[in-house]
Amino acid sequence: MTDVLDQQAFRYSSAAEPDLLCEEVPLSELAQEFGTPLYVYSKRQIIENFHSFDATLKSSGKEHYVSYAVKANSNIELLRILAEEGSGADVVSAGELLAALAAGFAPEKITFDGTGKTDEEIELALRANIHAFNVESFEELAVINSIAERLGQAAGHAVRAKVSIRVNPDVDAKSHPYISTGMKENKFGIEMENAREAFMYASRHPALEVVGIHVHIGSQITSLDPFIKAARSTVKFVNSLRVKSGIVLEHLNFGGGQGIHYRNVVRHPLLPKDEFGEEGEYVPSLSEFVGAVLPILDQTGLKIIFEPGRAIVANACALLASVLYTKENSVKKFVITDTGMTELIRPCLYEAYHQVAPLKLLSGATQKVDIVGPICETSDFLAQSREMPSLKRGDAIAVLCAGAYGYALASNYNLRPRAAEVLVDGTDYRLIRERERIEEVAGISKAPVTLPNSSSRF
Ligand SMILES: Cc1ncc(COP(=O)(O)O)c(C=O)c1O
Repeated sequence: MTDVLDQQAFRYSSAAEPDLLCEEVPLSELAQEFGTPLYVYSKRQIIENFHSFDATLKSSGKEHYVSYAVKANSNIELLRILAEEGSGADVVSAGELLAALAAGFAPEKITFDGTGKTDEEIELALRANIHAFNVESFEELAVINSIAERLGQAAGHAVRAKVSIRVNPDVDAKSHPYISTGMKENKFGIEMENAREAFMYASRHPALEVVGIHVHIGSQITSLDPFIKAARSTVKFVNSLRVKSGIVLEHLNFGGGQGIHYRNVVRHPLLPKDEFGEEGEYVPSLSEFVGAVLPILDQTGLKIIFEPGRAIVANACALLASVLYTKENSVKKFVITDTGMTELIRPCLYEAYHQVAPLKLLSGATQKVDIVGPICETSDFLAQSREMPSLKRGDAIAVLCAGAYGYALASNYNLRPRAAEVLVDGTDYRLIRERERIEEVAGISKAPVTLPNSSSRF
């Protein structure tokens, strides 16, 4: 989705035996220094991604802001970078709200999403004076109203919660069913038929200020059609709300969901092509997306908010893994690594495709393998039936585009410590989160036997 950089953050060096680089740093050096599994981020790519989104909107002259969806990756150092660049933040929990505030996001550019906000979370967001709650049900409207009234009484002055109502346009995002959110059978939003009543209901509550409308139809959407359909039905609704019910809004929040390229992200003549060939799969560019939806959304005259997560951070990260073993049976060849569904659950959860590339590229025969993790689940794979250069114990590989819903969905399953995270900036790099300690994860104060040094395995 993000428009192509002059020089990709992840690319092979031009040496005879090419090294995979992040910006100017060979990833093999980072794997050696910090051990694997390891998430490596490119600062430059994150900044470019944000600005290519923001600048495309700016060039349209529309009043807008881009609100990074913190759920995609909530590392505090990455949040600080985005806050500094002027991004807003879209949060879904007290934890994300506190992280966003601590990272320096302006409260007037923070929105709070989610179908199940607790009373404590609502109170916290009211105290923080955020821009708006994206509200998902009638009952939630009533609860926010009563909490705002209670806070107002305690403070001795009126407290009004700014609310934006999430509508469900019943549009099939044609993404994986588990990341489609804009259809009636999904739990999200209020269906269009009841949306007018929801806005009327909200406007009758004295402690609510109805400021916007919110729509988000899913994630990793690679076709413009669903966006266009959702934009048209939202605009029709906003205009009729104004004409028929006299409710005038300030903003239209069109959510996130813009798909990105996961295939052939890193290219080299020695790398086998996947079945999509040189071109990769079609994913609309950012300018195509904005060009398609903005003229429609513009018909409302409202300020526009977008909430991208994946498009900002996904391609800014490679997850590094080491090969532990190889084995084959009569039907398959397996490459078993130290990294799996605990670090990247997307392949297991959504059968998602991630390109896998060796950190050192050597010429030679390729073979079809399943690249799997060490977890005791059959669904613990990083890639299936993948044509790869030959790999042996001790080789290191990169799983590309792991920046969104990678660390954020990581777990301690099998009592595995969460991996470390490193940020690269040109030729510099630094640890931005330490690997969890095994004692911590196991809930023991001291290991009963001396632990070996887990980095630099080979
Ligand atoms: C309401 C909302 N906004 C934005 C996003 C970010 O989506 P994406 O990462 O696909 O851009 C999500 C993701 O689930 C979401 O639920």
